[in-house]
Amino acid sequence: MVWGNTEMRTTPLYRTECGQAYVGNSLDLLAEVPDDSIDLVMTSPPFALRRQKDYGNVAETKYVHWIKPFGQEIFRVLKKTGSLVLDLGGAYRSGVPSRSLYNFRVLLTFCDEIGFHLAEDFYWFNPAKLPSPIEWVNIRKMRAKDAVNTVWWFSKGAFPKADVRRVLTPYSDRMKKLIATPNTFYSPRKRPSGHEISVGFATDNGGAIPSNLLSIPNTESNSSYIRLCRKFGHRCHPARFPAELPAFFIKMLTDRGDTVLDIFGGSNTTGFVAEALERRWLTFELNREYLASSIFRFVGGHSLETVSQILARLYSDEADYLISSTACALDPANRTKPNAVPLGQGTLFTAGAAAV
Ligand SMILES: C[S@@+](CC[C@H](N)C(=O)[O-])C[C@H]1O[C@@H](n2cnc3c(N)ncnc32)[C@H](O)[C@@H]1O
Repeated sequence: MVWGNTEMRTTPLYRTECGQAYVGNSLDLLAEVPDDSIDLVMTSPPFALRRQKDYGNVAETKYVHWIKPFGQEIFRVLKKTGSLVLDLGGAYRSGVPSRSLYNFRVLLTFCDEIGFHLAEDFYWFNPAKLPSPIEWVNIRKMRAKDAVNTVWWFSKGAFPKADVRRVLTPYSDRMKKLIATPNTFYSPRKRPSGHEISVGFATDNGGAIPSNLLSIPNTESNSSYIRLCRKFGHRCHPARFPAELPAFFIKMLTDRGDTVLDIFGGSNTTGFVAEALERRWLTFELNREYLASSIFRFVGGHSLETVSQILARLYSDEADYLISSTACALDPANRTKPNAVPLGQGTLFTAGAAAV
């Protein structure tokens, strides 16, 4: 299958104008991807959870050994200016209220043994996270709830493509006042930290520089993806990204037309966001059911009968279904204008993945 100016041997399950979704083990599929061809790998692997979920979590003691070959392949396929963004949830060690270090071991291994740079460590705070683990938090009340994932932004070289101006956040009310009336509101002085605060701070740059703490609730409950999963009796993927998370990194780290890959695609949130932002995308996912259901993200405007026919095709051997017109937009109100999405994060993307 030709994608951009390169070629995959495997036939995709489905494709769109911008992307292709493949069923298979991503280690095998990665082997088909040429060297130095991908701008961003945005992904969330199965975490090292002690309670096994449906999608094959790996024991924390074996985790680094398991994930390292994926890291090596990703390093090979990334362009020199490319990045890998890896979302890893925290975990506890077995039987004791002490934390696993697996996500930090992954970080060290990827940098020390594969050659990645740690461009920046991000933290995804999900205020809607339920308290867990039950034993230590709910029952014995000896630990706080764990509501933050580590999101490692790795780069292949020291200077990856990145522009933080594309993900500016809304100014606070205080900052808006400062911009409107710099002289009356603020008297220039030196802060205890040594920073000079002058009226230059009152320049309107269109928004504030975001921090590396991304506060994004994972509360998608009424999207077309969920509605269509219910309608067709499919299980929703149990560990989906909120669309804002890949949107933040895709905007900051890629240009229109660049290629984004998710090697643990799940319900293909990454492909959906990439499509909305007019990036090329590739998604790999082991579980055919998850990937087949992910088509619900792209079929807005089709009748239920057509969606049913598309699904039947996805379960047939020759799949390779082309969705010729998708209705992807991060902001459903602007679904015909994919790039009408305001720059930013959090509240700017409150519609989440609700846009099929
Ligand atoms: C945490 S989920 C990703 C969810 C995704 N970010 C989303 O928004 O739907 C991890 C996924 O990796 C898939 N997976 C696990 N091992 C894999 C492998 N070797 N190759 C491809 N996919 C794999 C699982 O089936 C699961 O759907």
